Amino acid sequence: MGMKDYFHMVSGDGELSYSQNSSVQKQAWLLNQHILETAIQSLISSEESGKTEGLHVVDLGCGVGPVPLALVSLVVDVMQRKCKELNRDKIPKLVMYMNDLPSNDFNLLFKDLMKLEALKGRDNYGVPSCFVMGAPGSYYDRLFPNNTLHFVHANYTLHWLSQVPPGIHDEQGIPLNKGNIYLSETCPKEVAKAYFTQFEQDLTHFIKLRSEEMVHNGCMLMTLRGRPCPTDSLTWTSFELKLITEALTCLVSEGLIKEEKVDSFNMPCYHASTEQLESIVKKEGSFEVEDSKTSIFDVVPEIEDTWEKAQVITKFIRAFSESILSSHFGKNIMSPLYDKLLDQVFKFLDHGHPAQNHAVTVLLRKKHAY
Ligand SMILES: C[S@@+](CC[C@H](N)C(=O)[O-])C[C@H]1O[C@@H](n2cnc3c(N)ncnc32)[C@H](O)[C@@H]1O
Repeated sequence: MGMKDYFHMVSGDGELSYSQNSSVQKQAWLLNQHILETAIQSLISSEESGKTEGLHVVDLGCGVGPVPLALVSLVVDVMQRKCKELNRDKIPKLVMYMNDLPSNDFNLLFKDLMKLEALKGRDNYGVPSCFVMGAPGSYYDRLFPNNTLHFVHANYTLHWLSQVPPGIHDEQGIPLNKGNIYLSETCPKEVAKAYFTQFEQDLTHFIKLRSEEMVHNGCMLMTLRGRPCPTDSLTWTSFELKLITEALTCLVSEGLIKEEKVDSFNMPCYHASTEQLESIVKKEGSFEVEDSKTSIFDVVPEIEDTWEKAQVITKFIRAFSESILSSHFGKNIMSPLYDKLLDQVFKFLDHGHPAQNHAVTVLLRKKHAY
């Protein structure tokens, strides 16, 4: 079973939903807003865009909640401002595609999008200035015809792999990564290698597909949950995954989960450095790297109280991890698991450890017409 068969953020707009618990992803997005604005402005200013009827933009792995909404509003706003500055009498139409796996809560997404002021603008003939549409499917498959897209946006999504890396079992099928759910200081070299190989294959494939779908000189902005750069460790692990592992280990010692169940579970994600991203992009060859950076930020910095902060962080982790963990460990164990995670997050913060994210960003420009 591949990721696309079971992975989704927690749906709806309730207390535990992704839409109410994605402030970390929004923090990362805001850090790169200026890069996004500059890229859209450069596309509007370019010769070709004066001739085109519309700017075609896709938000890949759009999810729901504040980020896709902020993206659409910002792109409309930047287009209007830039066309005014260039004295263009005609503002190109924005054709905005929202992509995610079919299990994403598209109903909520489109309900929220329809409330945006940015989507209410119409020209003298009553034609909308922005056409927004869904593009369900995996971005590890083709999604658009050749030469369609001017701008590709992907925020906090490409660290999710297409599948758990093969090659993390020995010849008898025994798991090599026992006691871990991802990379760790104690995991064998083969496991670290298998994870990086899967990431490299997935990203290379993704870039190749997008290069076919994008126009010459089109831009792609990708921000991933990543790791510090430079780092010499192949086994770098985020605080979120360390704490999930600890919570699972506690449930094993309490007899609520079997040890073998944890041994056979591996998170289908990889946290790369900007250096690794750039090297994969260069090797594939279709894009020029125009900008790249690593931003380190404290998650939920606005909350000082440790218990309250731990609750917010636990809900943030639950919103992206629940579908994966429940498909392996079962729905019934989710409440005890996230209660235990809350204890672990509290202890972690109480011991003075920083709850930080590394957002790794690259802005790419398509080199040649396909
Ligand atoms: C952490 S959310 C980020 C959502 C949004 N971009 C944001 O910044 O809030 C990751 C999203 O990527 C989607 N996703 C993961 N793998 C995908 C794939 N192969 N194709 C399309 N979407 C995918 C998930 O369903 C999820 O909605």
